[in-house]
Amino acid sequence: MSDQREAGRASAPPFVVMEHITKRFPGVVANDDVSLEVRAGEVHALIGENGAGKSTLMRVLYGMYPADEGRIMVNGEDVKISSPRVAIQHGIGMVHQHFVLVDPFTVTENVILGDEGGSVLDMDAAHEKVAALAKTYGFHVLPSAIVEDLSVGEEQRVEILKALYRGVDLLILDEPTAVLTPLEARDLFENLRRLRDDGKAIVFISHKLDEVLEIADRITVLRRGQIVGETRPAETSKAKLAEMMVGRPVLFRLDKPEVEIGERVLEVDGLLGEGKLNGISLQVRAREILGIAGVEGNGQRELAEALIGLRQPAAGTIRLAGHDIAGWSVAEIRNAGVAYIPEDRQEQGLVLNMTLWENSLLGRADDRPFSGRTGFLFIQKIKDMARKLVKAFDVRARSINVNASTLSGGNQQKLVLARELDTSPKLLIASQPTRGLDVGAIEFVWRQILHQKEEGRGVLLISAELDEIYALSDRILTIYEGRITGEYPPDALPEELGIGMLGATETAEAS
Ligand SMILES: Nc1ncnc2c1ncn2[C@@H]1O[C@H](COP(=O)(O)OP(=O)(O)OP(=O)(O)O)[C@@H](O)[C@H]1O
Ligand SMILES: [Mg+2]
Repeated sequence: MSDQREAGRASAPPFVVMEHITKRFPGVVANDDVSLEVRAGEVHALIGENGAGKSTLMRVLYGMYPADEGRIMVNGEDVKISSPRVAIQHGIGMVHQHFVLVDPFTVTENVILGDEGGSVLDMDAAHEKVAALAKTYGFHVLPSAIVEDLSVGEEQRVEILKALYRGVDLLILDEPTAVLTPLEARDLFENLRRLRDDGKAIVFISHKLDEVLEIADRITVLRRGQIVGETRPAETSKAKLAEMMVGRPVLFRLDKPEVEIGERVLEVDGLLGEGKLNGISLQVRAREILGIAGVEGNGQRELAEALIGLRQPAAGTIRLAGHDIAGWSVAEIRNAGVAYIPEDRQEQGLVLNMTLWENSLLGRADDRPFSGRTGFLFIQKIKDMARKLVKAFDVRARSINVNASTLSGGNQQKLVLARELDTSPKLLIASQPTRGLDVGAIEFVWRQILHQKEEGRGVLLISAELDEIYALSDRILTIYEGRITGEYPPDALPEELGIGMLGATETAEAS
């Protein structure tokens, strides 16, 4: 942004002013006297540890929750934002992490849905309008495409277009890059820069501090519901931001414990399935962390689900500690000593409308200490266990009797991790284990996973984050289109892994 333009904007009233906002939930002050300004033409990053109150503050601004105290001004005027509809009328739009598009509809239909006006819809005109809007901001998306055929990154573009179509001046993005591939994140950033240069305001919530430093003009840090600082990328660093967020220095690299690798716990041979698994073979040994590096959507999910028994492979064998597990149910595989951290905590990891203690028992209700022979559950023992897990993993919750839906995103993830690591598995399958976690929690979870190795377990780590692959793996495989494309030592260069992750032909084409 040029100095002149910045000076011009600084003299105008900020687009949005939130003053002394307090928002309480039963037993929690999610936002405690928070004041925030967002200006036209800036990317304002909102960062803070899990449960700090970022999503809540933005949901208040978007009219999803009423604030208990405080006021909101838009363009210098007091407003009451009682619903998202009212927020949009005031020029405020929000894109959530879980998209709310209608799958069988086209891009155009989704963009205009709910905003058709009174007249009969002229589809050709609508397509043209959406195409023109997409072109203005350089969004690559085909108006006539059907949403269910789109990639996650494309769906996100549709969500953003939907807000822009309604003429919003402020776009709130809550962890938009958590679900994107690195290339998609690049595209998003280019789009955001264009929007900003066009005078839009953007609130960008993220745990990825490198991204924040790259894209933000200003950074506001929340901790335990309060603002603890405001800064700019030029004045700060990743380490400083991390310390502001969690209140202590954070290590981004950990020492890997030196242990002697043991016997094979997992042997996979020639796994085939549904076009997504194209002959995968691999082995994991006790006291070894095998990292699978790859851009998401290249068969990682299908591999994990085949290993835990959620899908039957078309061909190939899976041996667990020497036993062929073909045809075993999920429960049988879990009982044989496999723990599983799924990539999607809301879909597979938790039942959101059950309590934390009930969730802590998922998949282990048959375990000895928790149930008698008649299937009778020892509630007190389960609750004691849940309390212990919540404490050990610093799951921020008022009590173990609240529903999982009331936890912040990162705290939901911590609960799944706590449960799965407590089962003393032979093999841990960890898919994207730190997605959505703050930097402090990531450090903690990495330690826990390294500790699994010392405890004699084998770990299959599936991650799209190279930092994570490097931090934990003893050996690295790259996956591309359902095939293992390379095996690397833990000190291989990112460029080397990149070749395997993109498949050699793809890199040649892309250059
Ligand atoms: N609907 C709700 N009911 C009860 N408590 C809630 C609700 N939504 C949020 N909270 C609580 O408010 C606090 C702030 O949560 P919020 O989701 O705003 O955190 P966050 O900063 O977005 O965290 P994360 O990085 O994990 O997404 C947390 O303690 C959370 O448990
Ligand atoms: Mg959040």
